[in-house]
Amino acid sequence: MNVTVIGTGHVGLVTCVTFSCIGHDVVGTDVDAEKIELLRRGEAPFFEPGLDEALRQETSEGRLSFTGDAETALRSADVVFICVGTPARADGVANLVAIERTASAIARWAPDDVVVVEKSTVPAGTADRLRLTLEREGGRSRFHLASNPEFLREGSAMHDALEPDRIVIGVESEHGLDVLRRLYAPIVDSGVPLIVTDIRTAELAKHASNAFLALKISFANALARVCERADADVTAVADIMGSDPRIGRAFLDAGLGYGGYCFPKDVAALAALSEQLGYRFPMLREVQRVNDEAVDAVAAKVRDGLWNLEGKRIALLGLAFKPDTDDIRFSPALALARNLLAAGAQVVGYDPRAARGAKDELPDLGLANSPSEAAAGAHALVIGTDWPEFRDIDLAMLKRVMTYPLVIDGRNLLNRADFVGSGFWYYPTGRPPVVPEARRVDTDTSNGSGAHRSQDQPAPIA
Ligand code: UGA
Repeated sequence: MNVTVIGTGHVGLVTCVTFSCIGHDVVGTDVDAEKIELLRRGEAPFFEPGLDEALRQETSEGRLSFTGDAETALRSADVVFICVGTPARADGVANLVAIERTASAIARWAPDDVVVVEKSTVPAGTADRLRLTLEREGGRSRFHLASNPEFLREGSAMHDALEPDRIVIGVESEHGLDVLRRLYAPIVDSGVPLIVTDIRTAELAKHASNAFLALKISFANALARVCERADADVTAVADIMGSDPRIGRAFLDAGLGYGGYCFPKDVAALAALSEQLGYRFPMLREVQRVNDEAVDAVAAKVRDGLWNLEGKRIALLGLAFKPDTDDIRFSPALALARNLLAAGAQVVGYDPRAARGAKDELPDLGLANSPSEAAAGAHALVIGTDWPEFRDIDLAMLKRVMTYPLVIDGRNLLNRADFVGSGFWYYPTGRPPVVPEARRVDTDTSNGSGAHRSQDQPAPIA
């Protein structure tokens, strides 16, 4: 089957490779000529585990190609996937200009009876607007609209696309359903459930899924604030909650909160859509507020630990919005860096993949080439992203090179037990801190951060 994918960002490129891997002929197109050049050379414009290899294999075997010319890409399409960006406008409403432009191109160049599939995350009702543009600009051609939301996560996108939990298809015609069934047959035949519904339900299901996952994270973060004040352990509370299959353990990890291109914009878009439709959904605004508060809570711990930030050096391990990606869009680690820099601290970051992008975004950020280089001379070390390689950081090395033995774990990544008797002040998130034994600990909730405070600030290592 001839598949055309418009937009070669994270979702679009993984969609190209996935359909090619399962035997279809795929053409990807994008308005960004530089990106198309890279892709033609078999290089992905961003880091995603397994993507480069799959891309090289599929292009060299001839099933997958790229062109900057939308007309060429669309002329012989049986099915077109719209994978362009739908960023949030300042008021949270999704900006659908790129979707409209794509619809005009499809109307002009795609053949009769083409199946037009929304894969970009769009507000419920977008297909109706899409249909109008296709009809107004497509003359007498017939189009079959469908919605096929994507649930892949950055960092595990190839796995999520080839072995998804489910495939959701919203359709309005037998032909549309038939084409999508045939397209996905190799994946569905391996036992993946196919859920067929109407288009508006499919559109809404994607926003609802992302907003609910964000809500789980914010619930865990609000709970972390309570645990810090109650001397309880949020990780253990989440384990107990998660052992109830009605709740589930996933996405209950407290920390710096969610970031990335999807959750922040999708929570805002669902809130805006609900309001446009005449229903206020303040729970979603609260999800956003608690998420912002998660960064503030970690920043408050740094301030509590260091007294004044002016002239203090802070090592920030992890800059990407999550591990296994170089994506820094809406990264909570960068929000924290911004906060600490504004308070006068010197922040030196390290990230295995995202350093360059982070520096472009935040020029005042210092960069180090390794965790030990970042830690050298630092008054505090903060975990900003839960890259697995930070888990085994050498505490003895840190003790030697840091100015103060102070670690603030914004992702609850490190093993709390390793800090007991280590001479470090260790402040995890929503869990009891560890402080050197000689120091008496008070729990001071008056400052609003809920951070546990030792009587003394960490002393410089002699
Ligand atoms: C998310 C969804 O998980 C995908 O299903 C969806 O397809 C995608 O958005 C999208 O709409 O395109 P992604 O943004 O790649 O995927 O990343 P996630 O793994 O969901 O993580 C999002 C953020 O939540 C990260 O910053 C992560 O660190 C944070 N998070 C996650 C927590 O703070 N706590 C948790 O327990 C889980």
